[in-house]
Amino acid sequence: MVQRYDAVIVGAGGAGLMAALQLAGHANVAVLSKLYPTRSHTGTAQGGIGAALGNEGEDHWEWHMFDTIKGGDYLVDQDAAEILCREAVETVYDLEHWGLPFSRTPEGKIAQRPFGGHTKEYGKSPVRRACYAADRTGHMILQTCYQQCIKNQVHFYDEYHVLDLLVSDGRCAGVVAICLATGEIHTFHAKAVIFAAGGCGRMFRVTSNAHSLTGDGMAVVLRNGVPIEDMEFFQFHPTGIYKMGILLSEAARGEGAILRNKDGERFMERYAPSLLDLAPRDLTSRAMYREIREGRGIGGKNYLHLDMTHLGAEVLDKKLPDITEFVRTYLGIDPRTEPVPIQPTAHYAMGGIPTDLDGRVIMDERNTPMPGLYAAGEVACVSVHGANRLGTNSLVDILVFGRRSGRHAARFVQESDWAPLPPNPDEWASGQINRLRNSIGQERAVDIRDVLQDEMMEKASVFRDAASLTAMSEKLKELRQRFANVKVEDKGTRYNTELLEAVELENLLDLAEVLVEGALVRQESRGAHFREDFPTRDDANWLKHTLAYRGEKGVTFRYKPVTITKFQPQERKY
Ligand code: FUM
Repeated sequence: MVQRYDAVIVGAGGAGLMAALQLAGHANVAVLSKLYPTRSHTGTAQGGIGAALGNEGEDHWEWHMFDTIKGGDYLVDQDAAEILCREAVETVYDLEHWGLPFSRTPEGKIAQRPFGGHTKEYGKSPVRRACYAADRTGHMILQTCYQQCIKNQVHFYDEYHVLDLLVSDGRCAGVVAICLATGEIHTFHAKAVIFAAGGCGRMFRVTSNAHSLTGDGMAVVLRNGVPIEDMEFFQFHPTGIYKMGILLSEAARGEGAILRNKDGERFMERYAPSLLDLAPRDLTSRAMYREIREGRGIGGKNYLHLDMTHLGAEVLDKKLPDITEFVRTYLGIDPRTEPVPIQPTAHYAMGGIPTDLDGRVIMDERNTPMPGLYAAGEVACVSVHGANRLGTNSLVDILVFGRRSGRHAARFVQESDWAPLPPNPDEWASGQINRLRNSIGQERAVDIRDVLQDEMMEKASVFRDAASLTAMSEKLKELRQRFANVKVEDKGTRYNTELLEAVELENLLDLAEVLVEGALVRQESRGAHFREDFPTRDDANWLKHTLAYRGEKGVTFRYKPVTITKFQPQERKY
């Protein structure tokens, strides 16, 4: 079955919807989503979207830019960070004009709260920069953008899972997807494709990511010769619910919550004397692991406490209602009276599909674009986050770069011819589905995934070294062999979730390999990538981006310089 659209967007979170809004009215556009759009992971973003509005104290986009670059341990491309922080302001006002119900100051302005690593006067003290709608900011953004898409008659294909990218004569020609309701394979012939398919946190056991975040977009393009940039940098958010990983927003600490160890000590005083609990996430998560390793976890276990007991019922009910409810529901604890067990949770891939400032996917260190192919949001790496993202900047990223990629794609589809479809465009995707469905192997995808998640957590998370990464690399080879023997017992076509899980597992295995091999090669510590055997940052050798390609010889690497415009790398102190 072949459908034709000027532009196809894969993913219906904030980046995909924002891109769709730029194309609507100018082009025939379709959005494919493996979920229903309003269940996209943007909806789980809680604490806020960063923008230097200055509503609750002086602020400037230049301060935001500096914080973003320093937070990213100077691996941030500074031209991209400038766009992010400048355009954040108009983006938030656009959302307001579309009806997003922001929380308000007493005078009626958009309310703003402090967040980790966001400061005034280039690092002097915390600033109120995160614009929020209680602790449901992402949910409100998703609903608002979706309403605009419906108003602008964007065409949605709900529950379509992308399987392949189509490339002909070096140009993007479309994608192939499976309709989950029927099992039918669909070819989407398009002049432009925008990947906005989110992250891959499900390769780790403890994660804030939804079950759907299996890196499908990244894996599909990687298989088609596109590199993945900076995949070794994976962020752990300090406050996931113990064992479950469910996010408890940094907004809690923005409102004054405190991290404590078994002695009740506010241990961040020792690690970040100036920003304390609002230090960036890489630093805070490492401090937490250290406390646990040195025996100061609660009851000797591998968790700590988030103390919100002093915040008072009004703050919890008005500003943090969702996380208050999560704690009650999942832990049976009342955060007004008891501290909450938390541990760092795998949260965000700083790396992804490399793009230029207009979301065009680039193929190499010379920034050669693949005509017609775009990416935006967590699936992409325009490198505004460098080695460690600041909280609130993912919501800015999806909207600012979703919009830029949509605008560029709108011009592109008007100026360009159709790239021809390759012969038998769905051959690879149909072959993969048939192979899995008809396999007579002995392995269950879920068992392989369990091992992957446990081992990645142990060997490739907050702390790494050559021994742990080499062991993980070997483990991945073993898991890949087991995957070759995977069986799918459900032979049906309708909502075959067992088949889908096998497809997703293969994507996770590919991306875990890229992460682990990249982490092994990068012999330094920077941002979220901490090598115990190379504990310092090494700008002389490693102030550069990784481009990882995956082929018959496994993963190979090329490197690309970091764009530095205003801020020279400095020692990072908080
Ligand atoms: O803590 C949070 O609310 C998460 C925000 C983010 O990842 O940007």
